Amino acid sequence: MLQEIATRVEEIRKKWEEDGRRVSSLKELEEVRIRYLGRKGLVTALFAALRELPPAERAEAGRLLNALREEIQGEIERLRTELQAAAEAERLRREAYDFTLPGVWRGVGKLHPLTQVRLEIERIFMEMGFDVASGPEVETDYYNFEALNIPEDHPARDEWDSFYIGEGLLLRTHTSPVQIRVMKSRKPPVRIICPGRCYRRDTPDATHFPVFHQVELLWVERGLTMAHLKWIIEEFVRQFFGPGYEMRFSADFFPFTEPSAQVHIRRRGGPWLEIMGAGMVDPAVFEEVGYDPEEVTGFAFGLGIERMAMLKYGIDDIRLFFQNDVRFLGQF
Ligand code: DAH
Repeated sequence: MLQEIATRVEEIRKKWEEDGRRVSSLKELEEVRIRYLGRKGLVTALFAALRELPPAERAEAGRLLNALREEIQGEIERLRTELQAAAEAERLRREAYDFTLPGVWRGVGKLHPLTQVRLEIERIFMEMGFDVASGPEVETDYYNFEALNIPEDHPARDEWDSFYIGEGLLLRTHTSPVQIRVMKSRKPPVRIICPGRCYRRDTPDATHFPVFHQVELLWVERGLTMAHLKWIIEEFVRQFFGPGYEMRFSADFFPFTEPSAQVHIRRRGGPWLEIMGAGMVDPAVFEEVGYDPEEVTGFAFGLGIERMAMLKYGIDDIRLFFQNDVRFLGQF
């Protein structure tokens, strides 16, 4: 009887050696484990047969069976560790990132040159203590003209050929109406700039476009003179363009300033270029917004952002800003 058990143990060992060798996945390993060591497995069945042995042989048979079971169990653990390591290596290989693959190019966007210039202008004036104000692009005739001392039928209106969009409503032709809106809503002192979009019925050419941008500046306080205005502009030009520029004021006319001036700059030796209209706020404008012209004085200017960008970067056609050609826009 013991002999039979011993033979059977050897048979199972041989069979196991073959089956174990063939295992190539964790799933197969589990199947094999059940076939040998499971509740109805080959080894388990032999243990049941122990009970039928004469007591004197049981110990020896048990020893043989235990040795077989331990051998198979040990081998299964070893195979499990091996197969798990292989599976993990395979997973890493599959998920590995190939750094030599060509990348997917995503163009990095940038700010439009007019936006860059506007932000730079805002930075310079904010550092001087100016607030940034804004107003609507659809304006009333009152703010765009009348409150600025340009009554209907005044010949100066011809300077601002306008897009009317309804009774008394138009696309603002300049940022000057924001002066009125700000002064009507605040008491002096007032120190603001207002960047914004403006519209005029101009035929597009190298220096005109029906949509363009201005920065308005307004400073109202006691005791301000044209000297302060001149210093502010000089300092702005120095910061924006760098050193080496000359500045010139010449007489001009605007209904909302008295006196009024045109400001030209040039690189030493270069041609004079107009950069803005400016002047001391006309007393009629102060009266219109309820400020006392005997109390306060003030100055203002209106600056073309396109003009600034063209001078700074040497751009010779204003239309380029609005054609949205990335070959142009990408250069700034
Ligand atoms: N608003 C004027 C224009 O668009 C420019 C201007 C001139 C603005 C004189 C001002 C100023 O504030 O004082 O032509």
